[in-house]
This record gives sequence, structure tokens and C-alpha cells, in this order.
Amino acid sequence: MEKKRNSFGGSLGFVLAAAGSAVGLGNIWRFPYLAAKDGGGLFIVIYIILALTFGFTLLSTEVAIGRRTKQSPLTAYSKIKKGWNFLGVFSCLVPMLIMPYYSAIGGWLLKYFTVFVTGQGTAAANDNYFTSFITSTTEPIVFHVIFFAAVAFIIYRGVNKGIESLSKVLMPALLVMVIGIAIFSVTIKHTDASGATRTGLQGLKVLFIPSFKGLTVKGFFTVLMDAMGQLFFSISVAMGIMITYGSYVADDANLDKSVRQIEFFDTAVALLAGVMIVPAVFVFMGKEGMEASGPSLMFVSLPKVFAQMGFVGNIVGTVFFMMVIFAALTSAISILEAVVSSFMDAFGWSRNKALLIEGLIALFGGIIVCLGYNKFYFELKLPTGSTGQILDVLDYISNSALMPIVAISTCILIGWFAGPQTVIDEVQKTGIKMSRKLMFVVIIKFLAPVLLLVLFLKSIGVLTII
Ligand code: PHE
Repeated sequence: MEKKRNSFGGSLGFVLAAAGSAVGLGNIWRFPYLAAKDGGGLFIVIYIILALTFGFTLLSTEVAIGRRTKQSPLTAYSKIKKGWNFLGVFSCLVPMLIMPYYSAIGGWLLKYFTVFVTGQGTAAANDNYFTSFITSTTEPIVFHVIFFAAVAFIIYRGVNKGIESLSKVLMPALLVMVIGIAIFSVTIKHTDASGATRTGLQGLKVLFIPSFKGLTVKGFFTVLMDAMGQLFFSISVAMGIMITYGSYVADDANLDKSVRQIEFFDTAVALLAGVMIVPAVFVFMGKEGMEASGPSLMFVSLPKVFAQMGFVGNIVGTVFFMMVIFAALTSAISILEAVVSSFMDAFGWSRNKALLIEGLIALFGGIIVCLGYNKFYFELKLPTGSTGQILDVLDYISNSALMPIVAISTCILIGWFAGPQTVIDEVQKTGIKMSRKLMFVVIIKFLAPVLLLVLFLKSIGVLTII
């Protein structure tokens, strides 16, 4: 007997869950940094154009594959076209590799939240604070386990009662918090020791006013590649997630509209994160403050900014880390669900059995990631030139190698083997017209594979001229 497949209760639930996946650490610790680095408005304009074209194409494709096959990634691709099973395996492997370290970082966020909520924010502004925390043996593991337990609990509750209900609460709350901090951030001003006064509004200019000074063709290409890489990571494609969520969408839902709403939400939060972070960092640390991204922006630079705010710093820091936890939690549940759902579809396991097995892998994997900063410490030179620990290695394999391969193969499968009509028919099934159809075909067949290939060669260190 075939069991009834889980499904979202409505389009709003789907949009918020998918937006929850899309809005994650990338929006907060990478988008603002790239925008500040790549000439402000120029990066933003290119990013928005890419989102409306490439983003729309890739996202529509994955959601449509999911809804058409009613399968999660491990089995979906071969249902689209026989012989493409390998693609399913790859795209299920990506979230399996990401889950352990995403949860370890979720633990770091929990730790910082507890620091700020107990009013000890200034301690976190200390230069060695972050390093001494991640190199300690037990604390990072404890926080990782707590974070992962929360994620696993939501997945245990299922698609409706877990993912959908949580997203409906957390996503609006996240939006309110980002807007609140963003408004605060543009209103601050500070005079530093040298007597120079900087205001939030000046910081806003760094973010939005395009700077073409010294822009070369090569420089333009860097901006384009940065924007493409960021977009690609930000909309959560090439890791099976949008296929999984798409497979839970009702047959009569308007996919075209939902895809536009998800992208709008993701881009809006990225821009708001820019308004929240760039002016605050600029006011207290000047333009050089924005030179850090990723963990060092979030766990080293920002605590220093909060400390400079004095008493309110603890409050702003608390709200900030709570907001980031919401963003990370909704992304983490999407990662875990992609794997659990894949195991259920491919092996006929129950939700609980699939969760138990993947849960153990992620839990122990995460512990190993945490130990990568002490017991298992090593310095590995990555093809990108930077050195890394276990976390960076997992990140490199999944993001720089496997994800581009999955994305390129998906474009080739849909563009050349199954045909773009597969996606168009699925979107138009309910009688609505798919928007930007011609553009979709041109991008999926030609432009996306080429641009993604360049991105791939760049990220594995083969292409070094750009
Ligand atoms: N899209 C998320 C972001 O922008 C990242 C993410 C990665 C989400 C992996 C799910 C899985 O941060």
C-alpha cells in the first residue's frame, strides 16, 4: 500500500518554509561583505539582475522537479530521466556533508546568544574570545548537540506540524528583527579617538552608492562571479532542498508566483542585512571593518561593534543573535529534511527510522567538526589557497565541488535530455502561464551551464585569472 505523501497545508506555508531555507548565514555574513567589497550598488544591481534571471530559472527548475516526481532528490532525478541516478546521489550527499558543520555553527550562535542575553557581551569583544571558545573541548560540542536536538525535533514533528508551523512563526519574527536593527543601525553615530565622526547614513552610502573607481573588465568579472556564487548558495539550490520542498507542494498551487515570492523574501533579507551590518561596522570601525566575512565577521568584528555601543550593545547583540539563530534553524531543518525525506523515498523507511540514522550521522559528524579545532586539529591547504580545518574541508567539498556539479548536471538534464518543457508543463499544469518562458529556455540550455562551469573552475582553483 502506498503511504500518503506529506504535504504543505498551503502556499504560504511552502513559501515561508522555502524562504526559511534560503535565508541563512549566507545572507547575513556574506552578502553585506561582498556588497561593501564589490563597489556597493554595482554588486547589488548585478545580484538583483541575476536573481531575476538565473535565480528564477534554477529555483523554478528544482521546485518543478520535486512537484512533478513527488520524490526527494535521491530518487527524483532518475524519475525525470532513467540513468540519472548519480545526480540524485550527489545532491543527497551535499546536505549530508553540510548538516554536521551547519549544526556546529548553529551551536556557536547559541553560545553567543547566551553570552549577550546574560549581559556579558563585552567579554566577547576580546580578541581571543572566539578562538578560545572554539578550541575548547566540551562547550562547542554541548551547544552543537542542543542545536541539533532542536532541528531533529522539528523534523520528527513532520512537514506540517514541524517545518511549516515553525516557519510561519520564525520568518515573520526574523523580518521584524532585521528591520528593527537596520533602522537602529542607520541612526547611530560615533566619534573615534582621532576625532573623526562617522554616521550610519554615511555607512549606507558604502553599501548602496556604486563605485566605479578603477573598475576594470577583470574587476567587473570578479563582481559578476561573486554575485553568481552568492546567489547560487543563497537560494539553496543544488542540494536537493528545493526538490524536497517542491515535492510537498499541492498540485494546484501557483509555482510561478511562489518562486517569485521566495526570491523576493531572500533578496529583501539580504539587502536588509546589508543595511543592518554595513553602517554599524562602518560607524565604529571604518571601512576596514568590513574586510572580514563569515565567522570572523559574525563572531569577532560584530561583538566589537556591539561593545562600542555601550549598554544598548547587549540588547542589540541579543536580538541580533536571536535573529541569526532563527535564520540558521530554518535553514538547518531544510538540510535535514532533504536527507530524511530522501531515505524515506529511496528505502521505504519510516520518518523515525530515517531520522534516527541520518541524525546519528549528523550528530557524530558535528562532534568531529567541533574536535577539528582541538583534538583533531590540522592545517590543510585547500585548492583555493586558504588553509582549513575539518569544517572548511566539508564546506569546500560540498560548496565548491559538488554543488556546481549538481547544478550544471541539472541544467544539462533539463535543458538537453528531458527538455525545458518538462519544467514549463509542470508550472503551467494548473492553467497559469509561466512568466519569462523564453528566457528560462535560453538560460537553462546555454547561459547557466556556461556561467556555472566558469564558477566551478574558479572555485576549484583551475581558473585563476579571474
Ligand atoms: N541558503 C542559505 C544561506 O543563504 C544557506 C544554506 C546552506 C541553506 C545549506 C541550506 C543549506 O545561508
